[in-house]
Amino acid sequence: MDFIHLFRSFLKEQIEYDENSIISMMKEFNICFQYLTSVVPSPQPPLEYGRYRIAKTEILEAILTNYPPHVETPIHDHGRSIGFTYVVQGCLLNRFYQFQADSKLIIDHVEEVHTGEFIFHKKGMIHATYNPVEENLITLNVYAPPQQDTKIYSI
Ligand SMILES: [Fe+2]
Repeated sequence: MDFIHLFRSFLKEQIEYDENSIISMMKEFNICFQYLTSVVPSPQPPLEYGRYRIAKTEILEAILTNYPPHVETPIHDHGRSIGFTYVVQGCLLNRFYQFQADSKLIIDHVEEVHTGEFIFHKKGMIHATYNPVEENLITLNVYAPPQQDTKIYSI
């Protein structure tokens, strides 16, 4: 069984989706780029980045993304889901946004994450993912429950 099939089976066995269980689940799997090269998605217009859903269950969904150099997602939330993003390769600049008292959306803080590191998205947070370097950024994302009613924001 290849890595993706094994990983997909593993995801389908998961019955918990809090922050700690997702982190320990992802650490249990040693995600290396070499295991994922066969399924790294190419960008599909209108998106500037590639997106490949590895698995979706009632509990969670796992999506592999591929951002070419200097591509940024729209500012968005994840609906009612929590999210976990593992950097398989590259550098990820995560811009977190927050509403001010006058309802204006502004950058709250920025986090930079590199190969082998991860970032956690709490329920309700608003962010944009940016690839700031010349190398493609490959990330593995787990959302729990599967994303629904996500919103795009403009400033
Ligand atoms: Fe996101």
